[in-house]
Amino acid sequence: MDFALNGRSFLRELDFTNAEWASYLDLAAELKAANKAGREVKYLEGRRIALVFEKMSTRTRCSFEVAAFDQGAHTTYLDPASSHVGYKESVADTARVLGRMFDAIEFRGNYHSTAEQLAEWSGVPVFNGLTDLWHPTQMLADALTMREHSSKPLSQTSFAYVGDARFNMGRSLLVSGAMLGMDVRIVAPKSLQPPADVVEVARERALQSGGSVTVTDELEGVEGVDFLHTDMWVSMGEPAQAWDERVALLKPYRVDQALMDRAGDAKFMHCLPAVHDSTTEVGKQVLDKYGLEGCEVTPDVFEGERSVVFDQAENRMHTIKAVMVASLGRRP
Ligand code: CP
Ligand code: NVA
Repeated sequence: MDFALNGRSFLRELDFTNAEWASYLDLAAELKAANKAGREVKYLEGRRIALVFEKMSTRTRCSFEVAAFDQGAHTTYLDPASSHVGYKESVADTARVLGRMFDAIEFRGNYHSTAEQLAEWSGVPVFNGLTDLWHPTQMLADALTMREHSSKPLSQTSFAYVGDARFNMGRSLLVSGAMLGMDVRIVAPKSLQPPADVVEVARERALQSGGSVTVTDELEGVEGVDFLHTDMWVSMGEPAQAWDERVALLKPYRVDQALMDRAGDAKFMHCLPAVHDSTTEVGKQVLDKYGLEGCEVTPDVFEGERSVVFDQAENRMHTIKAVMVASLGRRP
């Protein structure tokens, strides 16, 4: 175990060198193997971590809590309704209070700038559990899953992301894939593509790593990839009115069997939650209003044998453990 990233916040992929970014995957794989073999070493004994969520979560919250438990750390969860932050207490004040009581803070929220403010004012490492701009803990899980499901090194592996690419998932996949030397294809309507500055920095990182970046609105961008990713068409915090526009724009980019066939042998990935049938409230609304059974992905693809979404979800825990151990770990 090397502690080269000790004391570091984890706010966005671009805060790390390509080599540092890849090192998280090796650490996560090591921690996962130790966990499965029942020989986990507790590097976080006695550490205290605040989990601040302005938005809902299943995987991210559970991953932080379970990983912390496995490693001997204590967590305190602040949910969107039960703390003062943002309502009558400023982010700076909350940060200074939490910094006195905790060794690190996880934050999921509406604005990336809040995560940066927390890091600035708290004096302790802050881990980004999703903001509008980036979802870096998800990226480690996605990359580890692709590494596990590919017979080739990541530097020879390709993936496409189809869907809303101007928000956290599209931006993060573009940058993370480029940093890992992957062949990255962002396939989205022009109005939902990542901003030019993000594409440019991803291209710079790909130049360093030997990866490549393609941004296109043509579906042929998915052809021949090893993995096909998508995400919900309307993200948390967006207004309900966004659905009409998003469905109209993204219907051609829906992951159905025809798109999977066009990709070739690709495995299907999704950060989850996914609207893949009409058994949920959102799924039912999508069926009633737009006549779609499943939204961004059809039920057959989601449940099909090329779907690796639950391996991906499990890897959230192992990779989030790596984020905490890298930053706060000490030898027992
Ligand atoms: N993928 C993801 O971040 O899931 P949660 O919203 O459930 O945390
Ligand atoms: N883009 C989605 C990701 C959920 C994990 C959202 O922000 O809601």
